[in-house]
Amino acid sequence: VIAVAASNNGQELWYLTRGSGAVALLLLTASVLLGVANTTRWKTDNWPRFVVYGLHRNLTLLALAFTGVHVVTTIADAFAPIGIVDVVVPFLSPYRPFWLGLGTLAFDLLLALIVTSLLRRRIGNRTWRLVHWLAYGAWPVALLHSLGTGSDARAGWMLFLGVSSGLVVVGAVMWRLLAAQEAEPIVRAAGVLGAVGIAVALVVWARSGPLQHGWAARAGTPESVLGRPAAGKAGTAAARRTTRTVRSVRHAVSGALPRGRFSGSLHGRITEAPTEGGLVVVTIDARSTGSFRGRVHIALRGFPVDGGGVQMNDSVVGVLPAGAPRWSSGTVTGLDGTRVVSTVRDPSGKPVLLQFDLRLGGGSAVGGSMRGESRS
Ligand code: HEM
Repeated sequence: VIAVAASNNGQELWYLTRGSGAVALLLLTASVLLGVANTTRWKTDNWPRFVVYGLHRNLTLLALAFTGVHVVTTIADAFAPIGIVDVVVPFLSPYRPFWLGLGTLAFDLLLALIVTSLLRRRIGNRTWRLVHWLAYGAWPVALLHSLGTGSDARAGWMLFLGVSSGLVVVGAVMWRLLAAQEAEPIVRAAGVLGAVGIAVALVVWARSGPLQHGWAARAGTPESVLGRPAAGKAGTAAARRTTRTVRSVRHAVSGALPRGRFSGSLHGRITEAPTEGGLVVVTIDARSTGSFRGRVHIALRGFPVDGGGVQMNDSVVGVLPAGAPRWSSGTVTGLDGTRVVSTVRDPSGKPVLLQFDLRLGGGSAVGGSMRGESRS
């Protein structure tokens, strides 16, 4: 993670966040399944108890380790305002507070699970069991977090991951309830109905929420493309390919700024020209390739400072997607070394957050990367 952070081209951390989140969710799903299997006759009929139990415990620890990577990369990635407090205290972050908060809640539940398991002898079986049952809640909460926060909620592979995980867990819980001979039939029936009800509610929510245009975390996948990506190939590389394909297709079709999050590599020129009153204008004109294809224009006006650069008085930032008739423009809202942050308005008036990490080569060439997120 440190090596990746040091390379600092602004996107690796984001890929790592998404990849590690997906793997953590998969591991958690497998762990829940084995946890359920552990309470049934299945384990004694097939595998010895200690195998199922050991696998369940190790998968949970591995899920926690991947969640650790997920959390560290989230914080190290300066794109969204998410701090160390947001890792343990839910619902405080200014960044999608509720949906991010659900991830924090799931993480807290996992931590409580590990701590109480380590202290099991001291705290007694009853308390340990209670926390353990509560920790199963980490799974649906993490699933809601994934769909509510993730950039890939509309991508085929993420949908496949979410839906298939949901189906197997609901199936396993129902199987467990139906096999619970000791429970009253009415309790078992209520449990089965509850599991089905939760599954239906999840599908209804996903369809009217993360899968709809207008959802803050939408990935911008047109319906026609949703089914195409390699379903089930979870992980960073597949995620990158999928998102790229999906977004560039949308982009090419509409000529508008991509929806949700997008990124690009910049290649262009930087010039500095004096204006009246001793002011200078530093202008950057670049082309972007990647999930945002088009032109970028940044102009900073102000007093020249020793060693190059400008103390900014005013600014203009514009982006023009390939094929689009009009620029989306705004001003610089943050300037820190070679990092420029801006909010521009697209032609329909929607704000789009942009961050440019520029690489100045000494001459007039300029490179670097950009990231954006359209706010709805
Ligand atoms: C058990 C705990 C957690 C699990 C299983 C989990 C899993 C996931 C998954 C599967 C995604 C979707 C990735 C994608 O769309 O490609 C995601 C997104 C995200 N998670 Fe978590 N997460 C957990 C906890 C947390 C915590 C504690 C934080 C930070 C405080 C966090 C921050 C984020 C962020 C910022 C995103 C959006 C990344 C993007 O731009 O796509 N997560 N998470």
